[in-house]
Amino acid sequence: AKPSKSFAEKFPWLVTGFFFFMWYFLNVIFNILNKKVYNYFPYPYFVSVIHLVVGVAYCLVSWGIGLPKRAPIDKELLLLLTPVAFCHALGHVMSNVSFAAVAVSFTHTIKALEPFFNAAASQFVLGHQIPLSLWLSLAPVVIGVSMASLTELSFNWTGFISAMISNIAFTYRSIYSKKAMTGMDSTNVYAYISIIALFFCLPPAIFIEGPKLMQYGFKDAIAKVGLTKFLSDLFWIGMFYHLYNQLATNTLERVAPLTHAVGNVLKRVFVIGFSIVVFGNKISTQTGIGTAIAIAGVAIYSLIKANMEEQKRVRSLTSSL
Ligand code: 3PG
Repeated sequence: AKPSKSFAEKFPWLVTGFFFFMWYFLNVIFNILNKKVYNYFPYPYFVSVIHLVVGVAYCLVSWGIGLPKRAPIDKELLLLLTPVAFCHALGHVMSNVSFAAVAVSFTHTIKALEPFFNAAASQFVLGHQIPLSLWLSLAPVVIGVSMASLTELSFNWTGFISAMISNIAFTYRSIYSKKAMTGMDSTNVYAYISIIALFFCLPPAIFIEGPKLMQYGFKDAIAKVGLTKFLSDLFWIGMFYHLYNQLATNTLERVAPLTHAVGNVLKRVFVIGFSIVVFGNKISTQTGIGTAIAIAGVAIYSLIKANMEEQKRVRSLTSSL
């Protein structure tokens, strides 16, 4: 008799849907809690370290109980993962500098430009020819983000530039990740990346924020919310940060990179919506329209790109016949 299929084998789309749901859910909570912490403790370099410290502690405990079993690592693997981890650390810190500086919705609007940066890197770094139609389809994204930025009420250059740097860093992260396809499962890969990224995040936090934190940063935060709430907030943003990223990596293992990239933009739509409601942020009409145009632009871009990839696949199938 044939072995009966497991639930996940029978309904793979349901499982993938669940991964997407959890990824978005954890990300929305993360973004809201994280911004609440910045409102009383504006130290993004230090908070970025805490996200990773909690994540790494979680990984060590998980490995300790064998869930998942730790995959062995050697020097060669470490060398492959280090550039990925460096870009992960840089993108992470820069996103957080932006979150602390401007409205969460604005950071995510700028981060919706990530596919544009990916296309630019494909053409100018990897030398792939990007067709004009694809470039043109990105125009509304750039126009939308520009419109949104010009009238964003919380606008400042720190928030804008750091979110742009995070786009560049995450684009390089995806380039290096492709080179570091190792066959190791995604949960283990993300655990190692978190550990290495932590080492990259520590020095800037110590040099840039260390003295201020020691003098008044910690004291002020504790005076405002009390030690228990301060510590529990830091713990929970770390947990949510780690879990949403782990879910995002697990989801990438199940779907094509393009689907993942589109899913990531859709995630920003949810975060933008929820953060505006939760924080009661006012946005100007032009910012609202610009954000909508940018997001619609990403959708059009993704459709054209998916179409082109499908044509490429059909061509390669017919030529191999
Ligand atoms: C981070 O802290 O690294 C940011 O939340 C990254 O944002 P993203 O995963 O939505 O790009």
